[in-house]
Parts: sequence; C-alpha cells; structure tokens
Amino acid sequence: MKVTIVGAGNVGATCADVISYRGIASEVVLLDIKEGFAEGKAMDIMQCATTTGFNTRVSGVTNDYAKTADSDVVVITSGIPRKPGMTREELIGINAGIVKSVAENVLKHSPNTIIVVVSNPMDTMTYLTLKATGLPKNRIIGMGGALDSSRFKYYLSKVLDKPSNDVQGMVIGGHGDTTMIPLTRLASYNGSPVSNFLSQEVLDKVAADTMVGGATLTGLLGTSAWYAPGASVAYLVDSILNDQKKMIACSVLLEGEYGQEDICMGVPCIIGKNGLEEIVDIKLDEKEKALFAKSADAVRAMNGDLKS
Ligand code: NAI
Repeated sequence: MKVTIVGAGNVGATCADVISYRGIASEVVLLDIKEGFAEGKAMDIMQCATTTGFNTRVSGVTNDYAKTADSDVVVITSGIPRKPGMTREELIGINAGIVKSVAENVLKHSPNTIIVVVSNPMDTMTYLTLKATGLPKNRIIGMGGALDSSRFKYYLSKVLDKPSNDVQGMVIGGHGDTTMIPLTRLASYNGSPVSNFLSQEVLDKVAADTMVGGATLTGLLGTSAWYAPGASVAYLVDSILNDQKKMIACSVLLEGEYGQEDICMGVPCIIGKNGLEEIVDIKLDEKEKALFAKSADAVRAMNGDLKS
C-alpha cells in the first residue's frame, strides 16, 4: 500500500512518521516544493527504522510527481499554516492555488487515488478539490473532525480526570474556531453520558476550549500544531488502507444530509477502502441542528470567497 504526502512540513512529516512506525503502509512518498526538504525528512524518518522497528519505505522528492505514481492515498498538507492571531480562513487565497495544482498533478500519476485534504481552510479546500477534479465524493475526504474530536476528548479527559481512551466524543460542523460543534450531549465516559459526571457549565467550558484548541496551540508554539494533526491524518489513512470502517468525523460533500447541499462539512462518516463508505445520520436535537445550519452558512460564505 502506497501513500503520498504532499507537503513535507510539520504536519506532513509527522504523518509520514506515524504511518511508518505504526506500519500503516508499506511505502510513503513525501513530496515538497522546497529543494531537498522532503528528501531530508524522509532520510531522517528512515533512520528511525531500526530503533523504532518498522519496514515501511519512506522516500522524499522535490516536485517529482512521477515518483508518486499509483498511490492508494494522497494526503495534501501543502500550503501555509496560520500564525498567532490568524484564522484558518485567512489562508484561503494562497492555499487554494496550491491545493488545486497539487490535486491536478497527483491525479496524472495516480488516477484512482483517494485524496485526503488537510490544508486550511480545510472545508473550503476539500470543496475546491472536489470541484476542480470532478472526482466522486467518496474519494475526496477532508481531515479536521478527527483532530477536533481528539482535542475534545483530551479536554473532557482532563476535567473527568480519566484516560482519554475511555472517553468518547465527536466534533462535527466546519473546521473553524467558531464553526465547529463539539457534541457534548452525546459524549460519554465508558459508555455513560458525560453529563452524569460533569455540570453543564463545565461542559460548556470544555466545548469552548475545544473550539479554540488549535488557536491555543498556535499561541504557544508560534505556528500551528503538528503532532495531533499528523496522527489524526494517519488514523484516517489507516481506516482507508486497512478497510477498518471506523466512524470518523470528516469533511465530505453533503447532498441533503444534515439539511445541506453542495457543501463539504464535518459529519460522522464510515471510512474504509473506498474512502467515504457512508455518511452516518446521528439524530441532532433542535439546538444542534441550528448550530449546524449556522456553521454551514459560514462555510458557504468562505466557499463564496473562493469563487470571487
Ligand atoms: P508547514 O509550513 O510546516 O508545511 C507546509 C509545506 O508545504 C512546506 O514544507 C512547503 O514547502 C510545502 N509546500 C508549499 N507549497 C507547495 C507546493 N505547491 N507543492 C508541494 N509542497 C508545497 O505547514 P504545516 O504546519 O505542516 O501545515 C500545513 C497545512 O495544514 C496548513 O495549511 C495548515 O493550516 C493545515 N493544517 C490543517 C489541519 C487540519 O486539521 N485540517 C491541522 C493543522 C494544520
């Protein structure tokens, strides 16, 4: 199984690292526009093979798309990340041009690949990739909800003072500080609703912390985060390559689901060998439905900026 990651920066290289040490794919190609950069990252990762103990072949190339041929999955992380004080949305102009040309280039060599879009603003970049390539919706998946959900579970685990792995929770909606929707009503600890253990006030604070989870890290690090983003992409790629059919919140084209049309947004998806296998219809209450509609308005406005 072969994975190409376009953009060997913080998120792309971390993703390659996780994919290799967890043995998710047999081959990973890192591609970057910066001369020698992907080659260096790949060499560094490969020099972990004997100490970490993996057999994945990781290689790096500068802009040579021929080396990405016949990839089963292509991850697009190329683009600029946000700086402190920037929103994901402010990246749109630069990243749109990059993502569109990258998608066209990868498809020349891997016409059957599944594309995972990571570059921000991710929902709009996913929509752009879908429109620019004309691929069926199952083959274009935006990664954002997996990361936001893992941050949600992190904040829940902190207030519960329990391990994150015993906490279940999902974030749907847009992948933006004001558009994501942490589903506190449906979150659980070992199968019991978290509302059995936490007050509404605490849950509201967890939701608020989750929504600015990325911005908090950008403030601390001076650039956007990479460990959890890279691991979240690898988690998604694993479900595709190994046909795990995990339910993961992903940004996909909605055609009536959740009351929306012609937009890519985060919803619960079954992810397997065909990419998007199914959109899961979880029953939202009226308040959640209203939040989803408001989130869709914001994502749609962003998609409008793309066209202008
Ligand atoms: P980074 O700056 O560390 O890496 C980006 C890489 O893309 C650089 O190495 C750059 O040389 C490369 N690049 C730029 N144009 C290219 C092109 N045309 N072809 C090939 N490579 C090209 O940035 P980082 O932190 O890795 O973030 C990457 C993107 O992912 C950003 O847009 C960021 O906002 C987004 N992101 C998305 C997340 C999500 O949950 N969807 C989470 C974290 C970051």
